[in-house]
Amino acid sequence: MSNTAQINKQFAIQDQLSFHEHDSGLVIAEINNAFGQASICLQGAHLMSWQPKHESVPVVWLSKDAKVLAGKSIRGGAPICWPWFGAHSSDNTLPGHGHARTVPWHVVETGSEPCGATRITLRLSNNDAHQKFWANPAIAEITIVIGQALRMELSTENTGSTSFTLTEALHTYFEISDIAKVNVSGLDQCTYWDKVGGSELKQQVGDVTFDSETDRVYINTPAKCVIHDAGLGREIHIAKANSLSTIVWTPWTEKANKMGDLGQADGWRNMLCIESANALDNGFELAAGQKHTLIVEYSTQKI
Ligand code: BG6
Repeated sequence: MSNTAQINKQFAIQDQLSFHEHDSGLVIAEINNAFGQASICLQGAHLMSWQPKHESVPVVWLSKDAKVLAGKSIRGGAPICWPWFGAHSSDNTLPGHGHARTVPWHVVETGSEPCGATRITLRLSNNDAHQKFWANPAIAEITIVIGQALRMELSTENTGSTSFTLTEALHTYFEISDIAKVNVSGLDQCTYWDKVGGSELKQQVGDVTFDSETDRVYINTPAKCVIHDAGLGREIHIAKANSLSTIVWTPWTEKANKMGDLGQADGWRNMLCIESANALDNGFELAAGQKHTLIVEYSTQKI
């Protein structure tokens, strides 16, 4: 029996969840239920798409030029930055945003909630391609629930005998009508590290609006954010728990052109990253035997 057939046998849920093999050989979980559609690549436990039934365009953006390849991060969706966010603190040969998004995770559980929502849990442990990048014994798990809202719970368990420092992010790309016409509320008066043109500490005044490259790590904020998008007639609500940082990122033309995988014809204008994280000042020590879980919930509302 092929690997995919075996996974289907063990974890598929009739009329809700099945697994198929992409041309690259990577396995993708497809969820189609009463609430909507979502796909998750088992490499990186990477949510690639989410579109609720009541939305005419996806809520989670995937680049038209996204490459789904073994060992590479997929542009769009919700990459998991773990066990560090951004550059590694001391070794720049290690991958940016950690290794979790480019290595295989495995399915440990699937299920259907009483309301009809579909649940899948994936795990990355020391037995996976982990130790090559990070010596600390740990288990990362993500549970993704596709219901009226999209819920993701990223847990980290320290299975070793000494503490370690963790930084992390759910680096979600949201689909929007036009970057110049949306605004983000929820961060007024918050302090942020501005990563554009050197790292400087600044304070947000009012909503966040966009007219150039924006790369900000808001710190010490558990706040809910809302993307107001009159063009698509909707708000995207981003609620979170156990996350004290929020990253707001759009590359704008020059950086997008350099990156090269954000889609033809200014594809980047149709996406905005709002990342729920524990980054920079909000990195924390996880003691031996302790478990930490970062939770996000995304939902939409018509305006
Ligand atoms: C954001 C960072 O989280 O991710 C940006 O703040 C970075 O600086 C962006 O450019 C994309 O990162 P990557 O590694 O997926 O190209």
